[in-house]
Amino acid sequence: MNDQTGSDSPVVSVVGVHKTYAHPTRPVRALAGVDLTIQRGELAVVMGASGSGKSTLLHLIGGLDRPDRGSVVVGGQDLAALSNRALTLFRRRRVGFVFQAFNLIGTLTAAENVALPMAIDRADRAAIRSRTAELLDLVGLTRRADHRPDAMSGGEQQRVAIARALLMDPEIILADEPTGNLDSTAGEGIWALFERLVSELGKTVCVVTHEPRASAHARRILVLADGRIAGRIDIDECKHDAALVATRYQELAGAVRPDAP
Ligand SMILES: Nc1ncnc2c1ncn2[C@@H]1O[C@H](COP(=O)(O)OP(=O)(O)OP(=O)(O)O)[C@@H](O)[C@H]1O
Ligand SMILES: [Mg+2]
Repeated sequence: MNDQTGSDSPVVSVVGVHKTYAHPTRPVRALAGVDLTIQRGELAVVMGASGSGKSTLLHLIGGLDRPDRGSVVVGGQDLAALSNRALTLFRRRRVGFVFQAFNLIGTLTAAENVALPMAIDRADRAAIRSRTAELLDLVGLTRRADHRPDAMSGGEQQRVAIARALLMDPEIILADEPTGNLDSTAGEGIWALFERLVSELGKTVCVVTHEPRASAHARRILVLADGRIAGRIDIDECKHDAALVATRYQELAGAVRPDAP
């Protein structure tokens, strides 16, 4: 629909990914064979209970961590082929992160927070200024440009974080519970912004969340349970009936039990 490039190659391709965290007493298996494809211009939503592996999956796609097994390809780049230094550059330039706690720097203004990745890259100052102004306008915060985070609402802080995530024109925006710290009105504003990024600007966004209201904004939802994709919910098939989506989600999220035979 909005794939102007005509290319069918996915932005993200995760194949057979496993991840176990080392722990002094007992290793924790966070992902146990995950396959996932995200197409360009898609708003991909992954839902799952606490501990199901959502953040782990997002960290692997974003190059914050490496899988034990399996492959992660983002924008045609196999992340396993990157050195640690190259992976650092990949994180700064090719993906944009949005976190539940916003993760803005408290001593910097909104504009300075947005500009940070370009400043670290020592970009031209005029270029930084115009790109920052453009993005603050996009997220509706031109009038908050000189506000520090403690002088902004939670919803405003998250919009600054989204502008920062967009700065380098990344392959994908990866958002981990982006509305978890917001009331429902501010949360709806964030979802509306993600929808605009996808439908008007052709961006690709992946949101992981356990919030049922995600179903109002997604066309399909992948459900993660105990480190595996337990299934997918087609929202159109559910006729956008929130109760039906919730039932289907409960079935899938509880479907794979750790001690099942
Ligand atoms: N650094 C770590 N060391 C050990 N275990 C970890 C580590 N990070 C996560 N885990 C464990 O891995 C599993 C998956 O964690 P993950 O953070 O991916 O879950 P999640 O779905 O994002 O949960 P939540 O909704 O609570 O954020 C959990 O059992 C968690 O306790
Ligand atoms: Mg998490």
